[in-house]
Amino acid sequence: MQQLILEDYAISVGDISRVLPLFLSERSYSSLLILMDENTRRDCFPLLEPLLPDGTPRQIIEIPAGETHKTVSTCETIWAAMLHAGADRKALLLNLGGGVIGDMGGFCAVTFKRGIDFVQIPTTLLSQVDASIGGKLGIDFGGVKNSIGVFRNPQAVFIDPRFLQTLSKRELYSGFAEVIKHALIADPGHWETIQSGDPAALAGDTQTILRSLGIKQTIVQADPFEKGIRKALNFGHTVGHAVEAWSLQTDRPLLHGEAVALGMIAEAHLSNQLTRLPDRALGDISRYLLHTYQLNALPEDCFPDFIERMQNDKKNAGGRINCSLLEAPGGARIDQYVSEEDIQRSLRYFNACVLRLGTRRE
Ligand SMILES: NC(=O)c1ccc[n+]([C@@H]2O[C@H](COP(=O)([O-])OP(=O)(O)OC[C@H]3O[C@@H](n4cnc5c(N)ncnc54)[C@H](O)[C@@H]3O)[C@@H](O)[C@H]2O)c1
Ligand SMILES: [Zn+2]
Repeated sequence: MQQLILEDYAISVGDISRVLPLFLSERSYSSLLILMDENTRRDCFPLLEPLLPDGTPRQIIEIPAGETHKTVSTCETIWAAMLHAGADRKALLLNLGGGVIGDMGGFCAVTFKRGIDFVQIPTTLLSQVDASIGGKLGIDFGGVKNSIGVFRNPQAVFIDPRFLQTLSKRELYSGFAEVIKHALIADPGHWETIQSGDPAALAGDTQTILRSLGIKQTIVQADPFEKGIRKALNFGHTVGHAVEAWSLQTDRPLLHGEAVALGMIAEAHLSNQLTRLPDRALGDISRYLLHTYQLNALPEDCFPDFIERMQNDKKNAGGRINCSLLEAPGGARIDQYVSEEDIQRSLRYFNACVLRLGTRRE
């Protein structure tokens, strides 16, 4: 069992049965509310259920899986279930699931009766190394991702890598893109380890998870409200988000991490052009990502659509496109403004790499 102790809570990584019962026995909650979706109820709850104390009333709240349910109407369902269960301000909400459950469950907890305690039990790699840390909670609204929400830390985060055993390989690799990103922006040693290892073995490995969330934690602690260095976490996401949103309207939607992998290739190229990322590092990043992810070339006639999406992104005031780039593996440069032409060139570079190095996704 390893623990990261933060200002007001701890993140435990390891066997959850060694930490959750102790956490619960040290506090006297009036009831336990367990939020899950149908997948985490089937695959993850069996590991959690035996750890819950018999003497405390409990209520399961199950919602449908998927980002499309990260809405105010699902929040209503959750709040209604909490009220119906007679939950008072001494109730505890356990969020058992991926980033959708964690973000939305946390948001429901901090708004229910002006705030009840909640803990995050992330069950996807993406949520274990990324979404469960940093205090961002919220839901999608008005067609805009995460447009309603708050910053608030949980009482604890329990990360058990065993939950990942039931995750599909595609979902696991999607989360692994954030592991790669953390290494590229802040930990060159970890980037070396990643390149020399087998992604399938590394992705579910406790040490990998610890190192990756350690990087994210250091960054968010230095800049909790994203005024400066926390923006480094957006590496790969300016291009990635635009392509992800576009892909959701095609018959081949990309997972978040797949879009970020693509975005990291394009933004590594921008880094090579604008912040002096060496040619060799650009080559290493492109090769590694295209061997690990099955990515297709992007249609050139959609480039203007991608650029428009980037200009409308809430992070990019006044139509200017702001990227977080690299000057070297492990060294990020925030607030880099890039032109439309730069973006076009980086998308063409990505397409050329796919032709040269990539494998087609069928
Ligand atoms: N708060 C933050 O800082 C932050 C950071 C990154 C992402 N996010 C948010 O996280 C969300 C994406 O998270 P995600 O990728 O975990 O998505 P998700 O919660 O939708 O989970 C992905 C899928 O995996 C299933 N699943 C979860 N755990 C499983 C397990 N152990 N075994 C089998 N199936 C399992 C889920 O039911 C779902 O179908 C997005 O809404 C994003 O906005 C938040
Ligand atoms: Zn991301």
